[in-house]
Amino acid sequence: MAEIGKNTDHAADLLLKGKLVAIPTETVYGLAANALNETAVLSIFEAKQRPFFDPLIIHVHSREAAKKYANFNDPRLIKLADTFWPGPLTLLVPKKENIPALVTSGLEQVAVRVPDHSLTLELLKKIDLPLAAPSANPFGYVSPTEPQHVNKQLSDQVDYILDGGYSNVGIESTIVGIEEDKVCVFRLGGLAIEEIEKVIGSVELRLNQSSNPKAPGQLKNHYAPKKSLFIGNLEDLIHEHKTKKIAVICFGERMIAEKNCVIFNLSKTKNLHEAALNLFKFLRLADDSDSEVVLCELLPDEGLGRAINDRLRRAATK
Ligand code: TXA
Ligand code: MG
Repeated sequence: MAEIGKNTDHAADLLLKGKLVAIPTETVYGLAANALNETAVLSIFEAKQRPFFDPLIIHVHSREAAKKYANFNDPRLIKLADTFWPGPLTLLVPKKENIPALVTSGLEQVAVRVPDHSLTLELLKKIDLPLAAPSANPFGYVSPTEPQHVNKQLSDQVDYILDGGYSNVGIESTIVGIEEDKVCVFRLGGLAIEEIEKVIGSVELRLNQSSNPKAPGQLKNHYAPKKSLFIGNLEDLIHEHKTKKIAVICFGERMIAEKNCVIFNLSKTKNLHEAALNLFKFLRLADDSDSEVVLCELLPDEGLGRAINDRLRRAATK
């Protein structure tokens, strides 16, 4: 098991030596390395068994720090950064020379964000380097929202886990960039589109689903538990699978009186923030339970509900 602790000096020391440290953020835990050290960045890809065509987000402590590694020219993106950083927003902006091509998979743009977590901000200020950090899970699996999730799957690959408690947004950042002079959302996430549109007006959704996507968080099979997961009308699904042990992921007041059924209610009061917070934890618990299949229903397609539905669809068995 990797050591879990709150020592940012120790974490900084390891990172400066090119080691991997799991860091807490408000969205999910990241598997971090010094983004300017190519060997260290390489070990992120190895640890996660992540394909090299899938670029990494860099994490910095402030907008000022972000400017050292990327060019912020578009006034709309600047406005978003000013409004939502630190927070669950990643911006795609032209990279500067100092960012290794490995980080961006050879793309001209780099993904940058300022995470909203005091311990990680303290660490970032201490080392004053950008940290490349994908979610700290094996490629394609559910993202971690607490230290133990990281230890369960990547304990041998990570040198230290910085303990920042539970991630209090619970799903990954929203990714925004410019294409054909339009502001586009490339991944739905912890910052609702409605919030973005309040600040800069309407944006376009470009949730590419090809096998060589601009953001592979868009891959059709991603965020997936190991068990088969089906989405639909719960009554129908439960009926269809009634001979099996089932795990149900639901939302709102629900009366499910089946035997052989374990129930995970994302939010009894239909609170979408609470649902986002619980999503990955429940997918993991369902995966670890003795159920044979996981059945779930979609949430209202608004606010964080859209990002949650996006994750459920990608987690579903095709
Ligand atoms: O909330 C988050 O964003 C978390 C925490 C740790 O910050 N990180 C995260 O990283 O979700 P990851 O690697 O699991 O997902 C990053 C997504 C990928 O789908 C990747 O393809 C996309 O961002 N991405 C990164 N750099 C990009 C670039 N230069 N151009 C286009 N997409 C990029
Ligand atoms: Mg990920």
